[in-house]
Amino acid sequence: MKLLITRPIAQPVLDQARARFDVTLGEAPLSEEEASSALTAYDAILPTLGDAFTAAAFDRAGTPRTRILGNFGVGYNHIDVAAAAAAGVVVTNTPDVLTDATADIGWTLILAAARRAGEGERLVRAGQWGGFGPQSLLGTHVTGKVLGVVGMGRIGQAVARRGHHGFGMDVIYFNRSEKDAGLPARQVDTLRDLMVQADFVVVTVPGGARTTKLIDADALAAMKPGGIFVNISRGEVVDEVALIDALERGAIAGAGLDVYEAEPHVPERLRALENCVLLPHLGSATVETRQAMGQMALDNIISFAEGRDPRQRVN
Ligand code: GLV
Repeated sequence: MKLLITRPIAQPVLDQARARFDVTLGEAPLSEEEASSALTAYDAILPTLGDAFTAAAFDRAGTPRTRILGNFGVGYNHIDVAAAAAAGVVVTNTPDVLTDATADIGWTLILAAARRAGEGERLVRAGQWGGFGPQSLLGTHVTGKVLGVVGMGRIGQAVARRGHHGFGMDVIYFNRSEKDAGLPARQVDTLRDLMVQADFVVVTVPGGARTTKLIDADALAAMKPGGIFVNISRGEVVDEVALIDALERGAIAGAGLDVYEAEPHVPERLRALENCVLLPHLGSATVETRQAMGQMALDNIISFAEGRDPRQRVN
């Protein structure tokens, strides 16, 4: 069986894959054309973010040779799962194993934005720090404030747990259905309600057509002037220009972003802002988590190859 792994993954997982399959290892994200060719050339693919398995890629591939896309990552909005299903291609993902690491990055951003850590670090590195000052680089207190979670799935709940247990925060959330996160969290009726009430807004919804530009100029305008906005889901969920406008005007106090609309492009205007902490999509980037994700993606492919239904099937 020919398996394409589109990017280098943890060596132990790669070794297992090589022991079972005829593996080709890619280096860079697949364009739509490359994704389409891959669908005709391999029995199985282990793709990840940035690989363009669009409807057009499936269309161009006709009847694909590939039977399974064992995605590396919980988010799979780079794969058109309906087109995959129509072409008879099973798609799997890697939930759960990255929940804590991703929630931790959410908290890295909350704290860094609230306490102006990026700004402070730049100052020290530039040799421009003038010493301790009672009124210098004052940030926002986090403990006891209102945490607003947009999308109360696994990652949203893990962010909420940290806020409740670690920082004594009041947790509110906006989600289609009611969720029991095992802590006192209040569901609000509208996104606007959440934006108005929260001191810290953290976005953890899945990417995709239903959530594209969910956070628009109106939503951002509803935030408190001292509010801090954090996105650890997908860049497309936020109107990036509207966010930049709000940050430039000082309409909100700050932001922390791990994801961007057109990764790896990060707009110059965003990079110029002092009140925004910018990370390069590090949500799941720990050694342990990335190995577990690779293992889960490979295990799904192995199950499928052995005629069993893969556990993390999404279509
Ligand atoms: C990372 O963003 C993932 O979806 O796993």
